[in-house]
Amino acid sequence: MSSLLLIAVLLLGTLPSPCLAFQPSSTSLLVAPLRQSIYLQQRLLATHQKHNSKLSMGAVSSSNALSEDTNLQFQDKSILLTGASRGLGRSLAHKLAECNASLLILSGRDEVALQQVKKECTEIASSSSSLKIEIVPCDLSDKSSVDNLSTKSLSIAQQLHTTKAIDILINNGGISSRSSFLDTDISIDEKVMQVNFFSGAQLAKAVVPSMVDQSSGRIIWISSIQGKLGTPYRTSYAASKFAVQGYCEALRSELTSSNVHVHIISPGYIRTNLSQSAIMGDGKNYGQTDVTTANGKDPDEVAATIMNSVASEQNDFIVAATFSAKVALWLKVLAPSFLDKMLVKRFEKQRIELKEKTS
Ligand SMILES: NC(=O)c1ccc[n+]([C@@H]2O[C@H](COP(=O)([O-])OP(=O)(O)OC[C@H]3O[C@@H](n4cnc5c(N)ncnc54)[C@H](OP(=O)(O)O)[C@@H]3O)[C@@H](O)[C@H]2O)c1
Ligand SMILES: *[C@@H]1O[C@H](CO)[C@@H](O)[C@H](O)[C@H]1NC(C)=O
Ligand SMILES: *[C@@H]1O[C@H](CO)[C@@H](O)[C@H](O)[C@H]1NC(C)=O
Ligand SMILES: *[C@@H]1O[C@H](CO)[C@@H](O)[C@H](O)[C@H]1NC(C)=O
Repeated sequence: MSSLLLIAVLLLGTLPSPCLAFQPSSTSLLVAPLRQSIYLQQRLLATHQKHNSKLSMGAVSSSNALSEDTNLQFQDKSILLTGASRGLGRSLAHKLAECNASLLILSGRDEVALQQVKKECTEIASSSSSLKIEIVPCDLSDKSSVDNLSTKSLSIAQQLHTTKAIDILINNGGISSRSSFLDTDISIDEKVMQVNFFSGAQLAKAVVPSMVDQSSGRIIWISSIQGKLGTPYRTSYAASKFAVQGYCEALRSELTSSNVHVHIISPGYIRTNLSQSAIMGDGKNYGQTDVTTANGKDPDEVAATIMNSVASEQNDFIVAATFSAKVALWLKVLAPSFLDKMLVKRFEKQRIELKEKTS
C-alpha cells in the first residue's frame, strides 16, 4: 500500500498542481505526463480493481457498438428514461431503440426536443422491432409532476402488457451547480437535491414494487464523479450526487434478493449542455460551456459503455473519467490530506480567475 502511495504522489508531482481534477486549462499540460504514466496507471488500476471489484474504472470504449448481451438484456423491456430530451439521455434513448426494447417512455420538460428524439429513435429501431415510444413531459423539480410521471408511466406499461410493469428505470435527468458556498442560497441546494436526488427516489418508490413482484428489474442511476469526490464551486451538485450514491448502496442491499439490480454510474466529463444549463447560487443560469465539458467524451460512446457495463452486471462504475480525476479518486483513498490541500489550492486559483473575469 505504501509503495502505491509513493507512486501516486510521484505521479502527481509530475503534473501541474491545478490540474488535479476537472481543470479547464489542464488538458494539454496533462498529455506528456499522461503518456509517460500509462504503464503506471494500468498497474494502479489493476491493483485497485483487485482490492475493490465493486468500483471499476471502466474506460469509454472508442466504439459505439452494443454487445450481443446488451441487446438481449434490454430487448422486450419497458423502460422509463428521464432527461431524454438532450445530452446523455438522448444518446441513451438512441441506444435503447437499437436494442428492440418494447416500450420506451421518454421524459423531460422540453416537449419539442422530446418529439425530435422520439422521431430519431423510431428511425433507429429496426423494422422488425415492436418498439412503442411514449412521451411524458415532467418537471423533476416539481413533486406533483414527478407523481404524474410515475402514474402515467405505470398505466402506459400496463396497457401495453397487462402483466408487466416498468422493467427498467433510468434516472438520468439532472442539473449541475456553479457557485461558491457563500454565494449559494439554501433554496438552490434544495432545488438541485430535488432534481438530482428526490425525484429519482420518488420514481423508484413508484416502480420498484412491481419489479419485486415480478422478481426482475433494474434501477440505473446516472450519478457523477462528484458523487465520489466533492470539488469547489459544486457544493449543491456534489451533495445531490453523494445522496444518490448512499441511497443506491443501501437500496441495493435490500433489492438484490428480489433480483432487482441497482446500478450507480459515475461519469466524468461528457460533451453535453450540462454546464450551459447549470444553476448559480442566486438561481440564475450559468449559461457557459466549460472547456472541460466541451472536451468531454462523446455522449454516444458513453451511452454505449454504460449499457454494455450494465448488461455485464457492473453495479458501481466510473465512465469517461479523466486521468486526473482517477488520480484524485486514488488520493482520496491513499492520501486524503494531500488531496484536501490540492482542492484548497484549486479553489484559490478558481477564485482569482473568477475575480479577474468579473472585474
Ligand atoms: N455532462 C457531464 O459532464 C456529466 C458528468 C457527470 C454526470 N452527468 C450527469 O448526466 C446526466 C445527464 O446530463 P447531461 O450531461 O446530458 O446534461 P444536459 O445536456 O444538460 O441534459 C440534462 C437533461 O436533464 C433534464 N432536466 C434538467 N432539469 C430538469 C427538470 N427540472 N425537469 C426535468 N428534466 C430536467 C433535461 O431535460 P429538459 O431540459 O427537457 O427538462 C435534459 O434532458 C445528469 O444527471 C448529469 O448530472 C453529466
Ligand atoms: C424485436 O422484438 C419483436 C417482438 O418481441 C420480435 O418479433 C422481433 O423479431 C425482434 N427483432 C429483432 C431484430 O430482434
Ligand atoms: C398532474 O395530473 C393531474 C391530473 O391529470 C393534473 O390535474 C395536474 O395538473 C398535474 N400536475 C402537474 C404538476 O402536472
Ligand atoms: C446544446 O444547446 C444548444 C442550444 O442552446 C443546441 O443547439 C445543442 O444541440 C445542444 N447540445 C446538446 C448536446 O444537446
